[in-house]
Amino acid sequence: MSRALLLWAAALLALSAGAAALPCSPLTFDEDSVVCVCNATYCDTFPELTPPSGADVLVVTSSRGGDRFAVTSAQFGPEACPPEWVTGVRVPQAETRQQVSGFGGAFTDAAGVNINSLSPEVQDQLLRAYFAEEGIRYKLGRVPIAGTDFSERPYSYDDNPGDESLEQFALTEEDFLLKIPHILAARELAPDLQLFGSAWSAPAWMKTNYDFIGIGFLKTEYYQLWADYIVRFLEEYVANGIPIQAITTQNEPTNGLDSYGFWNTMAWTPEMQRDWVRDNLGPTIRGNANFSDTKIIILDDQRILLPDWVNTILDDADAAQYVDAIGVHWYRDGDAPASLLTDTHKLHPNVPLIATEACEGSIFEKTVALGAWSRADTYAADILDDLNNWVTGWVDWNIALDMTGGPNWAGNYVESPIIIDAHGDQFFKQPMYYALGHFSVLLPHGTDIVAMEDPSDSLKGVVGLRADGQTVVTLLNRAEEAQQVVVTDATRGSVSLTLPARSLTSVLYATAD
Ligand SMILES: *[C@@H]1O[C@H](CO)[C@@H](O)[C@H](O)[C@H]1NC(C)=O
Ligand SMILES: *[C@@H]1O[C@H](CO)[C@@H](O)[C@H](O)[C@H]1NC(C)=O
Repeated sequence: MSRALLLWAAALLALSAGAAALPCSPLTFDEDSVVCVCNATYCDTFPELTPPSGADVLVVTSSRGGDRFAVTSAQFGPEACPPEWVTGVRVPQAETRQQVSGFGGAFTDAAGVNINSLSPEVQDQLLRAYFAEEGIRYKLGRVPIAGTDFSERPYSYDDNPGDESLEQFALTEEDFLLKIPHILAARELAPDLQLFGSAWSAPAWMKTNYDFIGIGFLKTEYYQLWADYIVRFLEEYVANGIPIQAITTQNEPTNGLDSYGFWNTMAWTPEMQRDWVRDNLGPTIRGNANFSDTKIIILDDQRILLPDWVNTILDDADAAQYVDAIGVHWYRDGDAPASLLTDTHKLHPNVPLIATEACEGSIFEKTVALGAWSRADTYAADILDDLNNWVTGWVDWNIALDMTGGPNWAGNYVESPIIIDAHGDQFFKQPMYYALGHFSVLLPHGTDIVAMEDPSDSLKGVVGLRADGQTVVTLLNRAEEAQQVVVTDATRGSVSLTLPARSLTSVLYATAD
């Protein structure tokens, strides 16, 4: 069959199987794909999908060419041996590995400033886009414990030098205006939203350099006070209606070892963190009747530090007993193969891995690139590598930034899946938003992951076996051209698909029993 004929056959099968979704309202800037515009009266939605049965297949596609969660259908036929010019994708019959915990983003002060710059109707659209059923159903959220660089000033919850009783500990205006209202609204939309807190720095007076930035450690005499401070944060958030399920031990502890740390940071060596978790944080959390089941996530830093950094902590049984997960960030993943994650899993099979921060547009890159498909591609590729190497979930950084990628008091502007145009009382959903949506919606919490080797240099994929009896094959076409693939499931047969140039496709069908 000619390529044209195959395309025609695929087009014939492309009938809309999803219930009426609101389509993308596209807008083009100077990048290679579109943003989708949402305003007070309009925002595109994720299509309602009727789970297929038998040989039926649903195909959900987003692409550089402008598809956004476009739904088509297809059918399995007898097992086919694809011709040489078609890539065969065999659904592995391997054992399932980790279960998906979920996907999400961070409720930073900057996100709050930006959300508040919109009318209430548009604010609601934005939170629905992330957390509602018709949105991308985020189930994880990260909550900074006081300030980060994505705040309008550096601050902590107790900037009163020498307040060793934490008597003057208090949440700030930022919590009450920028974070708590939006977290509460998100929890209304997603009652099963799980939250984890991360601190960027202790109060300056607790640190060796008396500053939020630069090279500075927590003073050893304040190790216990810092654990108490974190419990005070948990208490204040519960008092404001927001239980926090987990905390990380420190955002990017190695950033504070580097003079390059020109924003809120605090340095820990792995030995220091081990001692603090073992002697202070662990006993304090586990011994507190109200917060004893709060999960503790170590590392919260780059993949390149694996596995040595976490070995130092987990090889000490007295410290390891308090550790529930290992958090990894995506920066510098290009220098650190994803196999480091699998190496770490093999050493510590009972400690799940979770990706706790990622963003595009950091240092030396264009900050906001409106409509850049390349950023959806890098997000999807990183998530696929992570899922294929034992990572259970993936949490993005700021859920919303302004047109310059801020605000950020330290000038460290970056990219976000949702960019706010305050003047137009509207927001732009970047291609990255759709990349996250393919994973968040179609590989929900509890999905069992089956790892897949990259079928070719330009094609990556992963398989999820969902709790509702559906199989999802996610395929990322990184090539500049459309690719013909034949997906073969040993129990279902083969289905022929055309993956558009530079696209992300989720193939959904009933798992044969
Ligand atoms: C909102 O978006 C819709 C769809 O793009 C458009 O028809 C409408 O005019 C917009 N409303 C405003 C106030 O811009
Ligand atoms: C647990 O919370 C309750 C209610 O807020 C409080 O009265 C009690 O003192 C707390 N217990 C501990 C150990 O902090």
